[in-house]
Amino acid sequence: MTRYRLTLLPGDGIGPEITAVARQLLDAVSARHGFALDYDEQPVGGAAIDATGVPLPEATLEACRASDAVLLAAIGGYQYDALPREQRPETGLLALRSGLGLFANLRPVKILSALIDASSLRPEVIRGVDLLVVRELTGGIYFGTPKGRVEADGHVRAFNTMAYSDDEIDRIARVGFELAAQRGGRLCSVDKANVLDVSQLWRDRVEAIHADYPAVELSHMYVDNAAMQLVRDPRQFDVLLTSNLFGDILSDEAAMLTGSIGMLPSASLGSEGPGLFEPVHGSAPDIAGTDKANPLAMVLSAAMLLRIGLHQGAAAADLERAVDRVLEAGYRTGDLAAEGATVLGCQAMGEQLLAVL
Ligand code: IPM
Ligand code: MG
Repeated sequence: MTRYRLTLLPGDGIGPEITAVARQLLDAVSARHGFALDYDEQPVGGAAIDATGVPLPEATLEACRASDAVLLAAIGGYQYDALPREQRPETGLLALRSGLGLFANLRPVKILSALIDASSLRPEVIRGVDLLVVRELTGGIYFGTPKGRVEADGHVRAFNTMAYSDDEIDRIARVGFELAAQRGGRLCSVDKANVLDVSQLWRDRVEAIHADYPAVELSHMYVDNAAMQLVRDPRQFDVLLTSNLFGDILSDEAAMLTGSIGMLPSASLGSEGPGLFEPVHGSAPDIAGTDKANPLAMVLSAAMLLRIGLHQGAAAADLERAVDRVLEAGYRTGDLAAEGATVLGCQAMGEQLLAVL
């Protein structure tokens, strides 16, 4: 029997609760499809700070590198907010992305018809939305140098650098074009080329790479306009290609089209080695430990892990179908609840998913 090694990173807040649900479902679906999963659970973020003093221990990174895929829940908590940056949970996540070379972040946003009323936008605006944000994840202003804080002439100045080299743009552009070719055939590249030199290079390189993908329709959009178009007419988008910072912002905006960030999975991929799969939402420390968390984004992340990370597409489809079916049956977690819905806790939602599997 094929065996895969998964590193599980439950992290902080609601992370352990939703990880437990995902693990039960992964066990059930792997047994049904004839493969086995071996788990190695490791600390990251605040949990790692508490255990070892650093947000990404070397042992955690090594375990991830040695596995077939990594499933991360969420990191962060109020108690870490005042720590110096090197010791904050977010720094652990950035180090993990960069340590595993995960330059491509895929954030699909699909409106499920069962949840159409959960959105703050009108149903006729969002019905049928099915878009994918492809975000560059290991470059740009998140990692650019020089950066820092200096004191001069009685003032303090702080600065970061938004920089991309041609090869960094080319490789993420290729991911965007490949995925657009497999989906609706349209790629919209987001930049601020009317102002920023780095964006002008971005646009030039995306144009150049387009020559290899003539079947994909390419358009360009300034980031401020993209932010507006996402709420005005989100159906116009198939694949959105963005730099690191623009994708961070636009993917949260796009996520909210669905009404709850608790529904959205993501994948972060490199050119080799394991991918990292995680829900788009955070660690929700305000509801941690109360069994109120929505585990569906985590379950859908596990489905992405099965499909993209392990090439077990049939098992992935089973998990996705289970999510659709519990929603169609009217079950909701508190974040999604509408009139007439049956509100379940995190564990009970997990049990319903297992029941319909
Ligand atoms: C995300 C998050 C992270 C980011 C934070 C937690 C560092 O907002 O994954 O979008 O900015 O990339
Ligand atoms: Mg973000």
